[in-house]
Amino acid sequence: MNRKQEQAKEASAVPRHVAVVMDGNGRWAQARFMPRPAGHRAGVDAVRRIVEACGHRGVEVLTLFAFSSENWTRPEEEVSVLMDLLLRTMEKEAGKLHENNVRIRTIGDRSRFSDRLLRQIASVEQLTADNDGLDLVIAISYGGRWDMAQAARRIAEAVREGTLAPEQVDEELVGGMLSTAELPDPDLLIRTGGESRISNFLLWQLAYAELYFSPVLWPDFRESHLDEALSWYAGRQRRFGRTGDQVERLNRA
Ligand code: FPP
Repeated sequence: MNRKQEQAKEASAVPRHVAVVMDGNGRWAQARFMPRPAGHRAGVDAVRRIVEACGHRGVEVLTLFAFSSENWTRPEEEVSVLMDLLLRTMEKEAGKLHENNVRIRTIGDRSRFSDRLLRQIASVEQLTADNDGLDLVIAISYGGRWDMAQAARRIAEAVREGTLAPEQVDEELVGGMLSTAELPDPDLLIRTGGESRISNFLLWQLAYAELYFSPVLWPDFRESHLDEALSWYAGRQRRFGRTGDQVERLNRA
């Protein structure tokens, strides 16, 4: 891509990569006097809607925070419902996503996954590996600090083995060791559920993302809410450390 094309892409109204913290499932269920897992199940319907809508709007990568490193501390029963839901949803939806040319991949610490979940993940990743439509990234057992720590560990190992010199460690190298190595950084982070936190999501990768916080609980999140977030994003001026004047001049050039 030449500089002009790069600028056009940077200034483009549709974010290439949207990352979502799907918060509010528990509160959605509790407000209806239902058990929390019912909120997670309703959350899957919202996932379906938003995956489809992002595909239609030309988003290239959609990363969903489905289960954080910290979620392991939830009551055992809720953890097991969430794991089961992830497994079943992948089983059930893989075929349709594949038909729609979606490529599925997962990021996160797999060391605590059941064999069944590992097999399911391997199977959907393999099935959809050659698709070139929307890249759907599901973060499971994921934490931004975990990601940086595993990158640091691999870098340290390479230095110990003598295949890497400490002077070679720069931002590009670190970025390439993260679990998102082949993906562009998120342009837009959407968090539903009314909290304004990153909650240990993609800490390194969100450095320049626009952050959009919505009060809507995730199971209530509709296409129209996504469109509100996308038009808010389209109105933002992304400066990447430059001054506003510099950006305007670059955009005119
Ligand atoms: C946060 O709501 C949501 C989660 C911890 C789980 C989200 C997972 C799904 C919607 C399933 C996704 C499935 C696929 C295949 C991507 P919360 O329970 O923290 O809500 P609260 O803040 O209201 O308690």
